[in-house]
Amino acid sequence: MKKTIVLLPGDGIGPEVTRAAATVLRECGQEFDHQFEFVEMPVGGAAIDAAGTPLPSETLEACRKSDAVFLGAVGGPKWDGFPVGKRPESGLLDLRKGMGLYVNVRPVKVLDPLRGISPLKSERLGDLDLEIVRELAGGMYFGERGNVRENGTERAWDTESYSAPEIERVTTFAFERAENRSRRLCSVDKANVLTSSQLWRRTVTAMNAGYPTVKLEHMYVDNAAMQLTLRPAQFDVMLSTNMFGDILSDAAAALVGSIGLIPSGSFGSTAPLFEPIHGSAPSLVGTDSANPVASILSATMMLRDAFGLSLEADWVEQSLLRVLGGGYRTPDIIEPGAHAVGGAAFMEILREEMQRTLEHAERYGWGV
Ligand code: IPM
Ligand code: MG
Repeated sequence: MKKTIVLLPGDGIGPEVTRAAATVLRECGQEFDHQFEFVEMPVGGAAIDAAGTPLPSETLEACRKSDAVFLGAVGGPKWDGFPVGKRPESGLLDLRKGMGLYVNVRPVKVLDPLRGISPLKSERLGDLDLEIVRELAGGMYFGERGNVRENGTERAWDTESYSAPEIERVTTFAFERAENRSRRLCSVDKANVLTSSQLWRRTVTAMNAGYPTVKLEHMYVDNAAMQLTLRPAQFDVMLSTNMFGDILSDAAAALVGSIGLIPSGSFGSTAPLFEPIHGSAPSLVGTDSANPVASILSATMMLRDAFGLSLEADWVEQSLLRVLGGGYRTPDIIEPGAHAVGGAAFMEILREEMQRTLEHAERYGWGV
């Protein structure tokens, strides 16, 4: 298989976690004879520094033309004083929009070796395995906004707005995802207060007729946040707006112990984009303590969901589980008795384990 993959390292720990993803993809190409060509481009603060804009047009063009994109993280204190629209984060939002990516999937699944690091008791955590389907190209993050000074007082606003077709396309994706899982879909809104949420709820409800095997439920976002914390295993696929999905996915990540564990994939009209859901973590830069797991899992999502390479993705994921099972941990997921390692050492140990998996495929039950 021949694929062009654009790497967008971005800022903070972005470059180091991007290296982790590239390592996984490169190993996969070598072992399975795939030709993965990597093209690295600037985005975010790095692009502001290099080209004066967080999303240079060359970067967007390369991404649109590629087969898949991997992004590390954007943002950092250096650019915190910049206004909305000129910040590193705008580069990411414009990239998602410019690539026509309207849906973002964030799988949150408890990894067996890491049950002990969840803040929840094991009975509450259950077999947590859910997916947040977040609308990615509309809502508050792209609505009309402004900032005025009236009679000596400053006022600023952002608006939440959704059209029915915008809701329909992300809902179609969520229903299909639910059909292929446990056939339960929970749509999260704030329809007791927001008009846009009322349209959201009506649209999602009407579409259920096309997916009769899926059990649809609606939940207000405040209740959903509580239910996530109390009984997260009740959820299968959760569908929500751009903003609520952003918030709920960080909350869900905390349940499995670290935001450094959660990958994501975004889909739409051009190439798909894969990125860990964590940020650029400026305080970790230079400490080699960033957790590469979210990146590794974003790379396996790319293999599986963009290229259809499930065997390869299973190879990496099974190896990863054994490394975690062996107690190797970055600081964010350390527990008593585990071996603390840096991100670079973790990747070395993973590479060795991936080789072992190939050598003992049968014993490990991989690919059989
Ligand atoms: C995320 C991040 C981004 C978002 C930021 C960095 C713009 O929080 O991917 O969840 O809000 O989408
Ligand atoms: Mg976020």
